[in-house]
Amino acid sequence: MSLVAIIGGTGLTKLENLEITHKEMVNTPYGVPSGPLTFGKICGLDVVFLARHGYRHTIPPHMVNYRANLWALKEAGASKIIAIAAVGGITSEMKPEAIVIPDQIIDYTYGRSQTFFENDLSFVTHIDFSYPYNDSLRQILLKSAEQLNYDAVNGAVYAATQGPRLETAAEINRLDHDGCDIVGMTGMPEAALARELELEYAACALVVNWAAGRNGGNEISLSEMEKCLEAGMARVRGLLEIALPMICHA
Ligand code: HPA
Repeated sequence: MSLVAIIGGTGLTKLENLEITHKEMVNTPYGVPSGPLTFGKICGLDVVFLARHGYRHTIPPHMVNYRANLWALKEAGASKIIAIAAVGGITSEMKPEAIVIPDQIIDYTYGRSQTFFENDLSFVTHIDFSYPYNDSLRQILLKSAEQLNYDAVNGAVYAATQGPRLETAAEINRLDHDGCDIVGMTGMPEAALARELELEYAACALVVNWAAGRNGGNEISLSEMEKCLEAGMARVRGLLEIALPMICHA
């Protein structure tokens, strides 16, 4: 049975349904992760949880030590990762509160440490990244959403932007022209690093706002985002409870 890791994003710094067994602060060759790894059980299944932005939500997206996070989870024995992310919606289907299981990414981030393959190499290493998300995990997330009668969106292109500021309306138009459906700040390099470590990785994105310029010219309301997050993450927790047994036994 595999150990499943959950990387919690904004709005999911802890899992209420996780019976914690212990926490472990680890060090890695790349520095320390965003916080101690939290080990525990959900419905009797072993899970390791890590809050991407730290347990007090203090680490902004461009400062997250993605390499340390992924390395630590692999060292802990995880082989599968479900990443939870709050995103903005660009295209019409990606309404606030929608749960989206993306199938593609475009990386617009810069200046982040984005590979394990850079020093002391005996040969130059490339990974295949044609399909950045693991499809079996994606299907399990979709099936779980269906069981709960959540109208999850199957497939979307995730634009990973640098942040921490939100985008301009013109930037969102550009992302739309590029074929992006949702926008967030943490999808990369996380997904690529998982692939480098041969970890199966999929994301469950919760839309918490219309992206800049997509709400009839209104500015983005941070309090609306927070409301959406609270309601939406409760549904994401429910979805994880259904998905985990399927993932562990797959
Ligand atoms: N843009 C980028 N990241 C985000 C957004 C957004 O509109 N909403 C939540 N994360």
